[in-house]
Amino acid sequence: MSGAGEAYPGESRAALRDGGGLFVTFEGGEGAGKSTQIRHLAQALAEAGHRVTLTREPGGTPLAEAIRALLLGPDNAAGDPWTQLLLFAAARRENIRAVIAPALARGEIVLCDRFADSTRAYQGGRLPDAAIETAIALATGGLAPDLTILLDLPPEAGLARAQARRRGAAGDPFEAADLAFHAAVRSRFLAIAAREPDRVLVFDGTEPEADLAARIGAALATRLAAAAPA
Ligand code: TYD
Repeated sequence: MSGAGEAYPGESRAALRDGGGLFVTFEGGEGAGKSTQIRHLAQALAEAGHRVTLTREPGGTPLAEAIRALLLGPDNAAGDPWTQLLLFAAARRENIRAVIAPALARGEIVLCDRFADSTRAYQGGRLPDAAIETAIALATGGLAPDLTILLDLPPEAGLARAQARRRGAAGDPFEAADLAFHAAVRSRFLAIAAREPDRVLVFDGTEPEADLAARIGAALATRLAAAAPA
C-alpha cells in the first residue's frame, strides 16, 4: 500500500523524473498527422543514437488498450462525458506507471501520441475545467511533458484526411462529432499553446510531410542541446 500523502501512488513526484529523460507529447485534431510525424521523429532520434520509447494514449499497456477499445469502439460503450474523463484518466495512469515513468527513469526520450492536452481539448467543452484538471492531476501526479508538438490544421482538412485513411470504415465517436466541435477542439489546443509557449510548439499540419518532419527534428535537436549538461 502506498501512503495517502504521496503525490502519485507508489512513486514520489520527484522519482518520476529521476532519470533525466525527456518527455515529448504530440497533440492535434483528427487527421493532423501525429502518428506519421511521431514515427519520423522516433526514427531520426534512434539514428542519432538516442534511446526512444514510443507510446500512445489512450493505450500503451494491455489494460490501457482495453480501455481504448471501450472509449473508441463504434458503440459508444464508454458512456457519458464524466465516465469518459475517468476512463481516459485511468488509461493515462496505467501508461505512466508501466511505460512512461520507467522509460524516463532509464533516461530515455519518451514520445507519446496524445496526452493530457487532448483531455483539455476534447473533454474541455463538455465538463468544468476544474474537474478536468483534477482528473489529469490524479492520473499524472503532476508529471507533465517537457515539450509538446502541436500539429495544427483546419478541422475540415484533418477530417477529410482521417476519412480517406479509413477508406470507408466508421470513425471513432470523437471523430464523428460535428465540425463545430472539432473547431472548438482546435481553439482549445491553440489556447493551451498560447498559455504555455515554452512547452507547446505549434507546427502547420498542412505542410508537406518531409518538411514538417525536418522542422520537428530540428526543434528536438535544439531542445536536446539546451538540456545537455555543459
Ligand atoms: P487517436 O487514434 O489517437 O486519434 P487520431 O485518429 O487523431 O490519431 O484517437 C484518440 C481519440 O480519443 C481522438 O478522437 C481524441 C480522443 N481523446 C480524448 O477525447 N481525450 C483524451 O484524453 C485522449 C488521449 C484522446
